[in-house]
Amino acid sequence: MILLKTQRDLEAMRPACQVARTVLDEVTGWIAPGMTTREIDLYAAERMKAHGARSAFLGYRKYPCYCCISVNEEVVHGLAGERRVQFGDIVSLDVGIFYNGFVGDNARTIAVGGCDVLAQRLMDVTECSLYEGIAQAVPGNRVVDISRAIQRHVESNGFSVVREFVGHGVGRSVHEDPQVPNYVDGKTSPKLRPGMTLAIEPMVNAGSSAVEILKDGWTVVAKDGKPSAHFEHTVLITEAEPEILTCPEKMPLRLKAQ
Ligand code: MF3
Ligand code: CO
Repeated sequence: MILLKTQRDLEAMRPACQVARTVLDEVTGWIAPGMTTREIDLYAAERMKAHGARSAFLGYRKYPCYCCISVNEEVVHGLAGERRVQFGDIVSLDVGIFYNGFVGDNARTIAVGGCDVLAQRLMDVTECSLYEGIAQAVPGNRVVDISRAIQRHVESNGFSVVREFVGHGVGRSVHEDPQVPNYVDGKTSPKLRPGMTLAIEPMVNAGSSAVEILKDGWTVVAKDGKPSAHFEHTVLITEAEPEILTCPEKMPLRLKAQ
């Protein structure tokens, strides 16, 4: 069942998404070569607390960390530990928080200091694919129109879309209906309606789309060991243009997609 948000819900959810965005900015801006992923996770926890928010991931299906930190070939759900990030690594940081009774969910991949051209292009294509998807998030379209736009952008640039994990509805809980795949799966797809709030989150591999889960039970990695990137926004469907709740700057979508 897809839960449509009322104006009252949105008055609470908008600030939740803005806090999620702020924490993501603060943590990605703080990451530097030599830090352990544990230090990064604890800094995220501190920033969440400073804003009066709490992690939406910690404890979810027994997830043991405050956020997800996935390095290089790690796709999503990377666990914090003693690994030190190095110059040239790319780090996908996924931040989901509870605030005002609602979840804000967003993610971004950054380079630690700098990275090679392949990783940079992978990040650029993944981020653009997110905005291509968001541009389709309008009433009259279906979820599959978002999926198709993402897949098209990724594959036309020679990369591949992860299939095992998908975007999702988001609201009072982290995962609501509907699922938002990043590829066309051929299933019947719900119509988009004003008041829907979706976490759109392409996960894109430089090599093959095949993934596996490490023995820790969480970390998803690209099977071929090539890098992977992940960008996510929480988006509100409105009567007009989609409202990117985790990107409160009112920048025209056309500019964002460039
Ligand atoms: N943004 C991811 C998602 O929505 C993060 C989930 S991590 C988990 O699926 F721990 F909550 F599973
Ligand atoms: Co999500």
